Amino acid sequence: MQLSINGKSYDVASEPDTPLLWVLRDELHLTGTKYGCGIAQCGACTVHLDGQPVRSCQTPVSSVGAGKITTIEGLGGTHPLQAAWVKHDVPQCGYCQSGQIMSAAALLAQTPKPDDAAIDSAMTGNICRCGAYQRIRAAIKDASGQAPATAAA
Ligand code: FES
Ligand code: FES
Repeated sequence: MQLSINGKSYDVASEPDTPLLWVLRDELHLTGTKYGCGIAQCGACTVHLDGQPVRSCQTPVSSVGAGKITTIEGLGGTHPLQAAWVKHDVPQCGYCQSGQIMSAAALLAQTPKPDDAAIDSAMTGNICRCGAYQRIRAAIKDASGQAPATAAA
């Protein structure tokens, strides 16, 4: 089957029920997307499918069809969120971070200036075991041109 990922077309040979996460990581070597829980509970594996955040660990590759996938590599290091992430020194261990950024990027694409409630709603499924939530929110606010509502922790 063919997949559209980050604007490129890829031929993939994985079995149809293979989770998209493993196609990305093991077959295509796009390892920016992380494996956390494998049961759609942590958000580490978040990618975009037609602009919507999805958990790639629970997305069979056969269900993607002609949908357009964007991974953290597709942001190219130039997304305003990525600059804000650096500015606010967001990551601690870093493991959850690509998933966090992908959820935040989907939020800003739909809601350019989200308030705290919108941020909480969009980010609630992304778990950070290091507790970087304050910095994540500050970086999202900054990237959206708003003053952080809470001090970076
Ligand atoms: S690895 Fe997919 S949600 Fe945790
Ligand atoms: S930075 Fe360590 S899990 Fe989020």
